[in-house]
Amino acid sequence: MKFENQTVAITGGNSGIGRAAAAGFAREGAKVSILGRSEETVVSTATELGVEGFVGDTTKTEDLDRFFASVSRKADKINVLVANAGIAEFLPFEATDLDHFERTMAINFLGTVATIKAALPYLANPASVVLTTSIASQLGEPNTSAYSASKAAMGSLVRTLSRELLPKGIRLNAVSPGPTATPIFERMGLEGEMLDQTHNALSNVIPAGRLGKVADQANAILFLAAPENDFVVGQELTVDGGVVGCAAIGN
Ligand SMILES: NC(=O)c1ccc[n+]([C@@H]2O[C@H](COP(=O)([O-])OP(=O)(O)OC[C@H]3O[C@@H](n4cnc5c(N)ncnc54)[C@H](OP(=O)(O)O)[C@@H]3O)[C@@H](O)[C@H]2O)c1
Repeated sequence: MKFENQTVAITGGNSGIGRAAAAGFAREGAKVSILGRSEETVVSTATELGVEGFVGDTTKTEDLDRFFASVSRKADKINVLVANAGIAEFLPFEATDLDHFERTMAINFLGTVATIKAALPYLANPASVVLTTSIASQLGEPNTSAYSASKAAMGSLVRTLSRELLPKGIRLNAVSPGPTATPIFERMGLEGEMLDQTHNALSNVIPAGRLGKVADQANAILFLAAPENDFVVGQELTVDGGVVGCAAIGN
């Protein structure tokens, strides 16, 4: 098992991509702890996957401090941190206000900064940190101005902190997903036929002809985190069925 006796902490591990990553690390022998805001899904995920659950908010430094202190009390130093918690609220630019930008940056960017800062004293040497960014930061997708900017800021963080923290044995990378079937779409208010239509429309523009599955993203996260891949540093690994890699003009 690839992560036997390794300690793994995952923010947003109670849903979607983070949950699939938690399942993947647990299958590979890791001691996994997850953090999320919803007590209900934190508890159900922890029970179903046999991992440690912790209710907390990545915008609250006291929650993060308690989370990482609790993880390290139970299992010594942390070998892998997956800073994955995030939100997606899409609005036409003219309908946005500064609150919209502040909320998105507060969770996606500053929440990630706070997560890494709070984890630092507890990270092993060597340790691997994997962020979840998005291909949105590379596209000009309408209605995503705040979301895409927050993910671009995270991508920059991967590169600067890689250089700064590598001497301490901390290696940073990110998985950059394309559209992936997770509850994030329902959280945007999509349901029933509208959700199916959105999924179909996205599948039609993805060269691979389908949406991403959470396992596609989790596999990439485990790859980036694996000690055997420690020559991979400062990368955003795009997992998007070819949207960015083989974009074409016309059909
Ligand atoms: N699905 C996609 O198409 C896609 C594409 C590109 C990038 N991504 C990124 O992938 C990551 C995971 O998203 P997902 O698709 O798996 O969506 P999801 O199922 O909605 O999961 C989001 C997770 O983040 C957690 N979270 C959000 N804000 C938080 C906060 N302030 N404190 C703690 N936890 C918080 C949620 O916990 P609660 O449920 O407790 O709120 C949930 O576990 C996000 O960063 C997202 O931007 C997703």
